[in-house]
Amino acid sequence: MSEDLKTFVEGLESLALECEARKGQACSLKELEDLRVEFLGRKGKLAANMATLAKLPNELKPEAGRTANEVKNRITELIDGWQADLVAAEAAEKLSRFDPSMPGRKPWAGSLHPVTLVMDEICDILTGLGFEHASGPEVENDWHNFEALNIPPEHPARDMQDTLYVSENIVLRTHTSPMQVRSMLGRKPPVAVIAPGKVYRRDSDLTHTPMFHQIEGLLVDKGVSMADLRGTLTAFVRQLFGTGTEVRFRPSFFPFTEPSAEVDISCVMCAGKGQNKDGSTCRVCKGTGWVEILGCGMVDPNVFKSVGYDPEEFTGFAFGLGIERVAMLKYGIGDLRMFFENDVRFLEQFA
Ligand code: PHE
Repeated sequence: MSEDLKTFVEGLESLALECEARKGQACSLKELEDLRVEFLGRKGKLAANMATLAKLPNELKPEAGRTANEVKNRITELIDGWQADLVAAEAAEKLSRFDPSMPGRKPWAGSLHPVTLVMDEICDILTGLGFEHASGPEVENDWHNFEALNIPPEHPARDMQDTLYVSENIVLRTHTSPMQVRSMLGRKPPVAVIAPGKVYRRDSDLTHTPMFHQIEGLLVDKGVSMADLRGTLTAFVRQLFGTGTEVRFRPSFFPFTEPSAEVDISCVMCAGKGQNKDGSTCRVCKGTGWVEILGCGMVDPNVFKSVGYDPEEFTGFAFGLGIERVAMLKYGIGDLRMFFENDVRFLEQFA
């Protein structure tokens, strides 16, 4: 073998030996990677040796090239082997720290939405008072949503600003009151139903969302009076907001009830005082001590006529209440939009 080739091969051999001698020095995958670069990298030790190959006479180049390849493979195998050892050792170490007797970390299972919680609670109270649960379509026709409820075609409540029309005669229900009509049609009194669900209006600002939830209540029988309405609603709000809650009826107007009233309860925030403990004005009732929670009234004779009931024989009361409004009061939530943003930090508080 020529002197030149011998020197070249010896150089490569000693490179392989040098690498072997470094066994155990790379204690992490990062250090091992540095070692790989040091020997096999583009500017590494092997590459430096290869630079001298070019200076060999042509007839020696094949032999020299073969040796260089062998050495490169040897070094690669060495480093790959150490890498496999390191990976296995790390896995074994992790396993040794694993305590199978530790209780597992449970994933967060989620929780009911505050609107659902309040809806369920309200339904529980009212079914407890004897009302039965009913549900109906959110896409409603004009007759159920308006006409049968004594809202004639020219009535301002139908204004395009409020109602979301699907077509000329089909709307997204603007309230749960069409369920009054649906509950009475096809059956005779006594009727005592509640109907919770989504309603839609063309309205969107700080205190209005295009979709929100209502619950409708309806009681029809012989001899039902306004006193029954007041008694029922008082029992209801006292279960919902606490026994000390005061109730007040304010005269109002709805086309489908006569007489009609809006119901206020003593403010849940300041207990009806109108001001906070520090003397500042209560922001929930704006100092009045009262907050409005629902609309109600005695079923209008015209509504009875549209469902085929004799208004001389039967009387009844109806009420409708906004669920989000109740949830805001119950949980002290100041911003309606919180209900619809689905921020987990908000929702998880109700778990
Ligand atoms: N439907 C009315 C509204 O959405 C509420 C209501 C229901 C009033 C039943 C009286 C009787 O505002």
